[in-house]
Amino acid sequence: MAIQIKDGVFNLKTPDISYIMCVFGNRLLHVHYGKRIDSDIEIDTEVLRVRPCAAMTGKDIEEYNMSSELLLTEYSCYGSPDLRTPAFHAEYEDGSEVTVLTYKGYQTYQGKKPLRGLPSTYVECDDEAETLEITLEDTLQKIEVILSYTVFENYNAIARSVKVKNRGDQVVKVKSLMSCSSYLLDKNYEMMHLQGAWARERHIQRLPLGNSMQRIDSKRGASSHHHSPFIGFVRPYTTEEAGEAYGFSLIYSGNFEAYAETNAYDTVRINMGINSFSFCHKLKKNDELVAPEAVMVYSAEGIGAMSRTFHKLYKNRLCRGKWRDAERPILINNWEATYFEFDENKILSIAQKAKEMGIELLVLDDGWFGKRDLDNCSLGDWTPDLRKLPNGIKGLAEKVNAIGMKFGLWFEPEMVSPDSDLYRAHPDWCIHIESRKRTECRHQLILDLSKKEVQDYIVKSISDILCTAPIEYVKWDMNRNFTEITTPGLPHQYMLGLYSVLERITTAFPEVLFEGCSGGGGRFDAGMLPYFSQYWTSDDTDAIERTYIQYGTSVVMPASTMGAHVSTVPNHQLGRTTPLKSRGYVAMMGQFGYELDIEKCTDQEIEEMKHQITEYKELRELFHNGEMYRLKSPFEENCCAWEFVSEDKKNAVLMYCTVLASCQGAYSYVKLRGLNADKTYIDIETGKKYGGDYLMNVGIAFENSQDFLAVMKRFEEA
Ligand code: DGJ
Repeated sequence: MAIQIKDGVFNLKTPDISYIMCVFGNRLLHVHYGKRIDSDIEIDTEVLRVRPCAAMTGKDIEEYNMSSELLLTEYSCYGSPDLRTPAFHAEYEDGSEVTVLTYKGYQTYQGKKPLRGLPSTYVECDDEAETLEITLEDTLQKIEVILSYTVFENYNAIARSVKVKNRGDQVVKVKSLMSCSSYLLDKNYEMMHLQGAWARERHIQRLPLGNSMQRIDSKRGASSHHHSPFIGFVRPYTTEEAGEAYGFSLIYSGNFEAYAETNAYDTVRINMGINSFSFCHKLKKNDELVAPEAVMVYSAEGIGAMSRTFHKLYKNRLCRGKWRDAERPILINNWEATYFEFDENKILSIAQKAKEMGIELLVLDDGWFGKRDLDNCSLGDWTPDLRKLPNGIKGLAEKVNAIGMKFGLWFEPEMVSPDSDLYRAHPDWCIHIESRKRTECRHQLILDLSKKEVQDYIVKSISDILCTAPIEYVKWDMNRNFTEITTPGLPHQYMLGLYSVLERITTAFPEVLFEGCSGGGGRFDAGMLPYFSQYWTSDDTDAIERTYIQYGTSVVMPASTMGAHVSTVPNHQLGRTTPLKSRGYVAMMGQFGYELDIEKCTDQEIEEMKHQITEYKELRELFHNGEMYRLKSPFEENCCAWEFVSEDKKNAVLMYCTVLASCQGAYSYVKLRGLNADKTYIDIETGKKYGGDYLMNVGIAFENSQDFLAVMKRFEEA
């Protein structure tokens, strides 16, 4: 039993963790989240950190002489003596914003229900998980809040969501409905988060908690390049291998907030959910609002173990469809090869050469439709440009197939160019405010996906093309953030519209491999994984910058979801020149591909790429399904190393990359992880034999002798 309930105490257990709450008076309180506890729990007021005398706002739990100012209220609301930032905040018709949520009851069931209209983790059979639903109510304002906790016992993770129902006659304006609220019992932690910018996504940052509010968010309409919907809490001494690590990940792709608020008594409240800044959702009688799902992971064995739990759950029970498990094709994308300047002949000659090299899929990127010779027009007009492609997409795709390659196509379906037939026909379909300037970004506006007719247009226009040509892959791009937002509820309604469109299209075309993109990784979040089996991790294809980006991204995302390509040098984003070998090995960590003009490559480069392709084909199963260990952090050292180990521990592959070389520098010893200590492993290249214990405790020495040089080592059990 994953959920134990006794004497008003709820103990949600996996093999390693417990999440404990209790009913106290008529309140639901948080007790513990961390290592598993099996003993009977008797609630003691000291444990709850109740110091009635300290309360400055009154004792609202009179029977126990207590104030919620000091309590760990499991799901807090605004207006009681608890004046920390609440998980729930609403405005009622009497003008008040005061809510008092008291405990009403609970139910449990095997399995997990899908979240209506929102992406979520799932079970394939009911015995994979157990769910607890606790109902809280405000009897005066007649609302119910249902907290849902699903325990994935075998995955060591808990998925949470929240629903608010209006049981009364009045209209309730919901201003905040956090998906996840929890506590740390002391403040000796660092908040870990993934920050960045376009082409520099998801760099790891750790900041000590103070008696303050530490917050990340997005108001951009997408989860953004700047912050990911993830926060972690680690002890100052926590490393990849040791120490406590808590991870909170939101399965949502729009405006979000995540913060830790430490009060005067060093208790830390963690809230995460849709950004309450400028949020308002009106609930009429019997309406309900569902908050996106959040996933909580705890590891007592470092950040690496926390990440591997996220990887396993997200890869197996958030990603879905044929491509969840299927081997992905090695692709070549024409963007960095040609940008907008291509025609059918050019694409076909790339395809021909790519086929000879062993590449399996050709992706035609931006510029194939309307009259798009630059990024200043035609988004929304999804009709092939016959000047460039005289035989249309169908003709081109068939010719690519005849060469022996699969064909894939780029779209940016959520956007419209002011210079487009679509905009001329429907100028009111974009997000805008009448009589205000419509801010353009990359000469484009955003279609208002909260409108049903816009959703239908997107589904029809994309489906029509997918139906008429043999397209086996779609790159779904999204290149700007929101401005001139019409109403506070719009960003969330947009996300619901987008999820509905994605659900409809991916369900209608289950064989197509969909890759997400948002100017690179500007919306690479857990909410996208059910629809996009892989995501273009960043527009930055420089091998060294990619070690940072991919390392940071892997804190939550499995490598199987990260698009990674070999591009030309000097690199188009940074101007840096790195060895082809390094570009190959770094890209092999993700879904591997090429994005350069192979017709301009030398024979020697082509031979080297052929070798990469052969090597990747031998290893892709291991990269896709193996467990990932981060061994050296580029954020901490002048190098980066990671390793993938097969489930049966018989195979391992290690990538080591020098950032800057040093003269007469020390060797860098990399200790492998996840092997069988008592087995012998052979280094495939040298034939040298090592004990698993040796590899994990002494390690392999690398010399930082050449800038930007990556090497790969493969080990097989003897
Ligand atoms: C941004 C993407 O991240 C690129 O890979 C490329 O598809 C361009 N858009 C095309 O406009």
